[in-house]
Amino acid sequence: MNKITPVAEAFDLSNYINSQESKSFLRFLTCGSVDDGKSTLIGRLLYDTKLIFEDQLAALEKDSRKHGTVSDDIDLALLVDGLEAEREQGITIDVAYRFFSTEKRKFIVADTPGHEQYTRNMATGASTADLAILLVDARNGLLTQTRRHAFIASLLGVRHVVLAVNKIDLVDYDQTRFDEIKADFESFSSGFDFDSCEVIPLSARFGDNVTTSSDKLSWFTGPTLLEHLENVELGHEHSEAAFRFPVQWVNRPNLDFRGYSGTVRGGSVNVGDEVVVAQSGKTSRVEKIVTMDGDQVRADDGQSVTLTLTDEIDISRGDVLAPVHSRPDVSDQFAAHLIWMSENAMLPGRPYLLKCGTKTVGASVTEIKHKVDVNTFDHHAAKELSLNEIAFCNLALSEVIAFDPYEANRDTGSFILIDRMTNETVAAGLIWFGLRRATNVHRQALDVNKKARGGLKGQKPAVLWFTGLSGSGKSTIANAVEQKLLSLGRHTYLLDGDNIRHGLNKDLGFTDADRVENIRRVAETSKLFVDAGLITLVSFISPFKAERQLARDLLENDEFYEIFVDTSLEDCEARDPKGLYAKARKGEITNFTGIDSAYEAPEAPELHLKTQGRTVESLADEIVDRLLADGFIGSDNTWVI
Ligand code: ADX
Repeated sequence: MNKITPVAEAFDLSNYINSQESKSFLRFLTCGSVDDGKSTLIGRLLYDTKLIFEDQLAALEKDSRKHGTVSDDIDLALLVDGLEAEREQGITIDVAYRFFSTEKRKFIVADTPGHEQYTRNMATGASTADLAILLVDARNGLLTQTRRHAFIASLLGVRHVVLAVNKIDLVDYDQTRFDEIKADFESFSSGFDFDSCEVIPLSARFGDNVTTSSDKLSWFTGPTLLEHLENVELGHEHSEAAFRFPVQWVNRPNLDFRGYSGTVRGGSVNVGDEVVVAQSGKTSRVEKIVTMDGDQVRADDGQSVTLTLTDEIDISRGDVLAPVHSRPDVSDQFAAHLIWMSENAMLPGRPYLLKCGTKTVGASVTEIKHKVDVNTFDHHAAKELSLNEIAFCNLALSEVIAFDPYEANRDTGSFILIDRMTNETVAAGLIWFGLRRATNVHRQALDVNKKARGGLKGQKPAVLWFTGLSGSGKSTIANAVEQKLLSLGRHTYLLDGDNIRHGLNKDLGFTDADRVENIRRVAETSKLFVDAGLITLVSFISPFKAERQLARDLLENDEFYEIFVDTSLEDCEARDPKGLYAKARKGEITNFTGIDSAYEAPEAPELHLKTQGRTVESLADEIVDRLLADGFIGSDNTWVI
């Protein structure tokens, strides 16, 4: 039989519901490294607060005998870790929220899986938490990971922190060891401005000082963990936040109805309120607030509703509605803290996608102001960011968005960065302030345009972007193509990596970060040359997909030819025209493409030139023929578009 019976004693249902409703809520998360006992602690809290159902308990006893890591008693970690397996199969989301309650309070604990992607899960859990429990193993004390978690918790606006010194049984309930860790933590945490910071010794496995105090810890005069969770005083919620409504979709089932659906992210709104579309500045009034349960006169923070307005104004997904006198910032540049969560380094200048609320735009980091050493809080200069690093950066977006500083609104003040190639979430960001730098720089409308300039030359400008390993033949082929075009009377320019690196880009080396900047600059330059009406040949290794995509995105659809000069590493190395491969193999040159620096081959180039067994002449002809076929140039110099 599989009847689910709560262990808790029988109760009067309506009384119970009433008492539940009047209790306050504490949202918390636990963070720690693998093996610090996070799962056991959550399991212990659920077990001791009697939230485990009898059938689960029976199964747990059975499982503990089978798989447990603890010899004789129940392995509470199994209760929580059951989910981990599901997560590994990709069934559940990053963070599971567990609910339990005591006489005094209701709790939601964000259970974040502890494996590789700690920081990401931790950041997701912390973004809604009031309190963070930082778990350490009494034997190990504070780790860098603990300090990082404290730092992230503070960045994300978590107001209360508990350092749970777990596995105190394994140091024989030793007060001296506890005092050492406590002193270490207190000197570290004095740099933060948490509302409360408690250090509590406990053993999640044996239940010492989790929900009941323990004789073995008689020297400890503070509260048990649960007592502290029940009594910690929470400050006021962000109820004073201004109304924000990021539009998720425009709901237009028929011509008579036009509503804007989304979730209120801060403040509240009433029928009749005047609202402004932050990005466009257009204003109107709320006519109706429509919900599944009928119309309402008011909508509060967190509620999903559809608003209709009294005027027909242009609003689309990603627009933010706000009160006229309390508008969010609108800009395409801001300063933010970034928590980098990807194995692949963050490289300034690289194009990412930025998702803030319901809006997704292109974005890149224009400058790393500093990265933060989470142990000392020191600021360091940095050219790139690697996994788990935290930095203060400037970002530039492809278009303006509406946002708030994170301290004013956790929703409209935060964003994620997404890798355009893999769709992976690579960073969490917290907006500190908008930047006005480019606000007063407007594009100038010019009368003579690309079409006119190209037309005068009898051609349609384009970029021929040659990519391939060093020594693959890019420059040789590009040079031959340019000669052929010249003999057809075409106007061209060849931007060659080796040459540009002697001038415009002579400040750049061969680190990944420098290569990103190298390509960003030449991509912008090639755009200018196309605008000048020229057929522009670019011959750069350009090893990374992301930056080749950036170059493509700067141009119009049919203006960009990615030409993959595909010569195998063995062949390039055998030819070694500049003797560089030999040097790289000897270790005299580092970061050499193909040897100790990556080359990401194009997946769908416009032209894929396998060079082996072919002459430069035939390869160059293939390119010119393609331009002829696609109508970029005529077959004689009388051709005009
Ligand atoms: S890219 O990777 O940033 O696109 P780019 O095309 O500008 O490179 O420059 C490559 C040229 O620089 C090569 O053809 C080679 O002559 C020279 N070079 C010197 N050091 C390196 C290196 N570490 N890796 C690759 N090329 C190098």
